[in-house]
Amino acid sequence: MMSEEPLRRRRSALIVAVPAVILLAPLGYSVVSALFARETVPSPTFLERPDPMYENCVKETTYMRYHHWELLRAVREEVVRYGERGEIGLHKCMECHKSRERFCNQCHDAVSLYPDCFGCHYYP
Ligand code: HEC
Ligand code: HEC
Ligand code: HEC
Repeated sequence: MMSEEPLRRRRSALIVAVPAVILLAPLGYSVVSALFARETVPSPTFLERPDPMYENCVKETTYMRYHHWELLRAVREEVVRYGERGEIGLHKCMECHKSRERFCNQCHDAVSLYPDCFGCHYYP
């Protein structure tokens, strides 16, 4: 008789806990997957990879991924305003990233960005 009481309490705890886990599972799932989604980087199949003979971009890949527009703007400033032509230029990108459609536009389309550079700059 003495052992009935803790057993019943444990069983009622289970009755609360099991549905709670079932109900909260989708919430937990979406929180976790949202956290992971933020870390997602473009997959190799999403972006056309440059020929494997090229190991690096003109700068570090993560820098390029998040700052290539700043780089392009800075280079343009140098050339157009100060006439200083360096190694890097917009025309250089297509030596390795051969298709604007399958590389640049893959990302830009995804964020509805349509840079108006290519009326003047040749990049098929
Ligand atoms: C109205 C025409 C026009 C538009 C639009 C334009 N550019 Fe240019 N851009 C030029 C000209 C002309 C030069 C000078 C070309 C030279 O001296 O090689 C130049 C030079 C550059 C250069 C340095 C030279 C090179 O080939 O890399 C960069 C980088 C550049 N532009 C980036 C951009 C970017 C990025 C955009 C879009 C946000 C853009 N431009 C839009 C006309 C344009
Ligand atoms: C010498 C060849 C070469 C040139 C020139 C080049 N890239 Fe790259 N780029 C690469 C390589 C290699 C990678 C890395 C691919 C990888 O990590 O799998 C890369 C990566 C990138 C990425 C990141 C892609 C990602 O995975 O998120 C961006 C953005 C990029 N390049 C933009 C540019 C732009 C803009 C230019 C012109 C200023 C340029 N690249 C010029 C070879 C080049
Ligand atoms: C990994 C994804 C990705 C790739 C690949 C990529 N871009 Fe971008 N690009 C972006 C994002 C995101 C922005 C918007 C940045 C912002 O304004 O915050 C952007 C912005 C730009 C801008 C500035 C547009 C403006 O109006 O200010 C230019 C120019 C540009 N990209 C050129 C290129 C070129 C050229 C290539 C191919 C060689 C390229 N990008 C490849 C993601 C990418």
